[in-house]
Amino acid sequence: MKLKQLESLLGNLDQFTEPKIDLEQYPTRPHIASRMIYTAANTFGDITSKVVADFGCGCGTLGIASALLDAENVIGIDVDSLSLETALSNAEDLEVNIDLVQCDIHHLEWRGPVVNTVVMNPPFGTRKKGSDLDFLLKALKHIKRVALRDFNATSAEVLCELRFDVPQMYKFHKKKEVDIAVDLWRFTP
Ligand SMILES: C[S@@+](CC[C@H](N)C(=O)[O-])C[C@H]1O[C@@H](n2cnc3c(N)ncnc32)[C@H](O)[C@@H]1O
Repeated sequence: MKLKQLESLLGNLDQFTEPKIDLEQYPTRPHIASRMIYTAANTFGDITSKVVADFGCGCGTLGIASALLDAENVIGIDVDSLSLETALSNAEDLEVNIDLVQCDIHHLEWRGPVVNTVVMNPPFGTRKKGSDLDFLLKALKHIKRVALRDFNATSAEVLCELRFDVPQMYKFHKKKEVDIAVDLWRFTP
């Protein structure tokens, strides 16, 4: 699938109808989400035919993008049931399969298949200090089995700089839209 087609399909997804600030619910917009998953697939071979987990999947954007790029299996995990309902209907609309699990990431004890790749746009850690790093540590733990087998180097690299556009979503937002400079990271444990 071409990048433009992926971006356009992601543009049709429903997003948080009642976003919860405590959970830092900010959707990854189609421009960034498509580039993030397309790069993971086509530059690094991390998506196609892989088992992909989307931690804090929200309405399913990153997981669905992975499914569209032929992940073998996608598991979306979020603590918020309303978001998971939206993720399910988004996946059904696009006729892709993703498994959805309601779980607080802090309590996740993985018994399922080996996860090759974790994709995520985690909470930023602005509401609950350190929650971004909690997500990262969990992700690294769950791909450790594969990591130990297939990788012997640790790497953490910034692939590119992007602008994460946040529309006016919460009462305390004063501006109509804000562009936040973010980095797209890739970690290999
Ligand atoms: C920044 S949003 C990203 C949503 C989605 N991944 C996307 O890219 O559009 C962070 C997501 O993490 C979820 N979340 C926050 N804390 C969580 C926790 N402790 N366990 C699981 N999910 C959590 C929120 O409900 C929200 O959907």
